[in-house]
Amino acid sequence: MKEPLIRMEGVSFDYRLNSEEVVRVLRDVSLDIYPGEYVAIIGHNGSGKSTLAKHFNGILKPTEGNVYVAGFNTKDDRYRREIRRRVGMVFQHPDNQIVATIVEDDVAFGLENIGVPPREMRKRIDAALEAVGMSSYRNRPPHHLSGGQKQRVAIAGVLAMEPRCLVLDEATSMLDAHGRREILQVLRRLHQRGMTIIAVSHHMSEAAEADRVLVIEAGRIAMEGPPREIFQRQELLRRLQLDIPVATRLAGRIHERVPDFQPDLIHPREIVDEVVRIAGKKGAAG
Ligand SMILES: Nc1ncnc2c1ncn2[C@@H]1O[C@H](COP(=O)(O)OP(=O)(O)OP(=O)(O)O)[C@@H](O)[C@H]1O
Ligand SMILES: [Mg+2]
Repeated sequence: MKEPLIRMEGVSFDYRLNSEEVVRVLRDVSLDIYPGEYVAIIGHNGSGKSTLAKHFNGILKPTEGNVYVAGFNTKDDRYRREIRRRVGMVFQHPDNQIVATIVEDDVAFGLENIGVPPREMRKRIDAALEAVGMSSYRNRPPHHLSGGQKQRVAIAGVLAMEPRCLVLDEATSMLDAHGRREILQVLRRLHQRGMTIIAVSHHMSEAAEADRVLVIEAGRIAMEGPPREIFQRQELLRRLQLDIPVATRLAGRIHERVPDFQPDLIHPREIVDEVVRIAGKKGAAG
C-alpha cells in the first residue's frame, strides 16, 4: 500500500472569536489522501469545507490532532516550505489570485519568490501554461481574459511550483457553465497525468468526476465513498440539503418506469449508453 500524501488524524479546529469564545468547526476528522487520487468534498454552506481545505497545506493548523503532508507535520514550522511546495491551493475568485499584468509574468510570480533560475523558470512556465491550455495567451494581459481563462492562469501559477497535489476551494463557483467545463477538463487531464486533486464544490456533476467523495456535515465526515455509491444515498443527501447530479436524478426517474434501467448513473453519457442498451435489447426481443 502506498503512503498517504495527506494524513489527518483526529483533527478538531476552533476559530477564536474573542478572548473568551471559540467556535468548533472541525470535529475529530481523520482521513487519508493517496497520491494520484481525485477527491471531491461536498457539504452544506458553513459545514467546514474551506476550513478543512486550509488544513491540507498548513494555512490552518489543527487545534487538536495532526495533519501530515508527505510525512511532515503541518504544526512544525520548519516544514512550512516543504508542505506548501507539495500542496498548492486555488481559490474561488480568479481576480484575487492574479497579480501581474501579463499572463506569463503571473505564472512566474511564485517562481521568482523562491529564486528559481531563469532557464528552469522558462521551462516550468511553458509546461504550466501548456497543462491548462493557455500557451497562446502567454503575452496577454490577464484582465482581458474570461473567468475560466483567468482561473486557468491561476492554476498554471500553482502548477509552476510543481506541486504533487492541487486543492481547489470552489474554484468554479464564480464561472459560467463554459468556464466550469474548461476547469473540469484541465482537472481531468492533470488527474490522468498523476496529479492528486482535492476539489471542494457545490456542483454535484463536478463531484461525480472524482474517485471518492467526502460529505461534510457540521465539521465531521458524514459519509465517504465512490460518487456512484454516495449519490444513491439520496435520503441522507436530502437531509443534508445536498443535490444529486442531474444524470442520477434522471436515471432514478426512468428506473421507476423501466425497472431494467440502471438507476446508479452519474454522468450524462451513461444515460445515453443505457438508453442504447435497453433499446438494443428491445430490438433483439421484438
Ligand atoms: N475566520 C473565522 N472566524 C470565525 N468563524 C469562522 C471563520 N471562518 C469560518 N467560520 C465559521 O466556521 C464555519 C465553517 O466555515 P467554512 O468556511 O469552513 O464552511 P464552508 O463549508 O466552506 O462554507 P461555504 O459553503 O459557505 O463555503 C461557519 O460556521 C463559519 O461561519
Ligand atoms: Mg467554503
